[in-house]
Amino acid sequence: MKIKPILPFLLCSAVSFNASAQKNDAKTFGFAAHQTKLLLNETAKAKAAAARPNLFSPRALDGSGNLLIVSPKDWCSGFFAGNLWFLYEYSGDKFWKEQSEPFTVVMEAEKTNGGTHDMGFKLYNSVGNAYRLTHEQKYKDDIIEAAKTLITRFNPTIGSLKSWDNRKEWKFPVIIDNMMNLELLFEATKLSGDSSFYKIAVTHANTTLKNHFRADNSSYHVIDYDPGTGQVAHKQTHQGFADSSAWARGQAWGLYGYTMCYRETGNKIYLQQAEKIAKYIFGNPQMPADLVPYWDYDAAKQGNQPRDASAAAVTASALYELSTYSTNGKAYKKKADKIINSLNKSYQPQPDSARGFLLLHSTGHKPANSEIDVPIIYADYYYLEALLRQKRLADKKPVINAVGTLKN
Ligand code: GLY
Repeated sequence: MKIKPILPFLLCSAVSFNASAQKNDAKTFGFAAHQTKLLLNETAKAKAAAARPNLFSPRALDGSGNLLIVSPKDWCSGFFAGNLWFLYEYSGDKFWKEQSEPFTVVMEAEKTNGGTHDMGFKLYNSVGNAYRLTHEQKYKDDIIEAAKTLITRFNPTIGSLKSWDNRKEWKFPVIIDNMMNLELLFEATKLSGDSSFYKIAVTHANTTLKNHFRADNSSYHVIDYDPGTGQVAHKQTHQGFADSSAWARGQAWGLYGYTMCYRETGNKIYLQQAEKIAKYIFGNPQMPADLVPYWDYDAAKQGNQPRDASAAAVTASALYELSTYSTNGKAYKKKADKIINSLNKSYQPQPDSARGFLLLHSTGHKPANSEIDVPIIYADYYYLEALLRQKRLADKKPVINAVGTLKN
């Protein structure tokens, strides 16, 4: 019997797979670049018409399709700068660097704003990406200064960074989202050599691991602590359907946060926690077939609910990273690819619509009747990040481009 030569066939398949992956990348990033130019224009128009001069960065569309732009104080102020840096990272085109810089420079003043825990979202996604890609000293100094400011919110009795001030129902609320701000602290230790940022990040991650998670590995949104004793006072929600429910974006923040903590510490407990969260998310019977969740897994039991494309984008980005650490990596990569395919296929607006946003169907704060089933800037941010991670894996590069040059 004649044996068919299989190697040339395998080589041809690999080449054609790579060629088709490249074609897909070019199509998706081409769409992203086209839309983002529109969003730059729409943002400039909104700024010119704005009542306050400090409104500068796009956040979302309202239910009527109007563009909402925000000031540097808003927790969403750093995402658009990040999107522009991601487009620069993908293309190497100086045009995107020139667009990114003004949106980044405005954020630098926020490094001394100690009234918020959202320092990571604001500074790390803007200035942090700028430093990663340019290595400019001023951005490095900003990151360290921002970390110094963020740790003023740490309470050693509790072992956590405080999320929100001035909430009459809570004394020391800590939300699962706060895991996302730890990356800034880990980076600040690497840049400054001062280990106190790292130690606080680890302590916060450990306290969250102890108190935020339920037996089924879903997480509460808000844990309120007694600042005097450090004991848990309340386990509640703010943006979820119920105190006992699993708010979809909260689960995604946890997945991303513990994956990143494993990267930064090598502590297997964090890897296991990320794996447990992934098991909860993908084992949930309310997860739709396209893997873009309803805004809250328990709300979904009540019948049709709005989706949250932002939760899907954060999850995909986290899973690409987790796939490189876990023995279950192949399955995670497959899930991430499936999410990205769904977003590419059914959640992108038509080109030249949605004022230039990249994804439709995110849900910001359903209980407050705010930003429901609309484009929101952080969905676009994590979508672009996930696309870059997907591409790096396809190119056989480390999933995280932490080195700081475009050539890596
Ligand atoms: N950090 C707020 C949110 O995820 O909506």
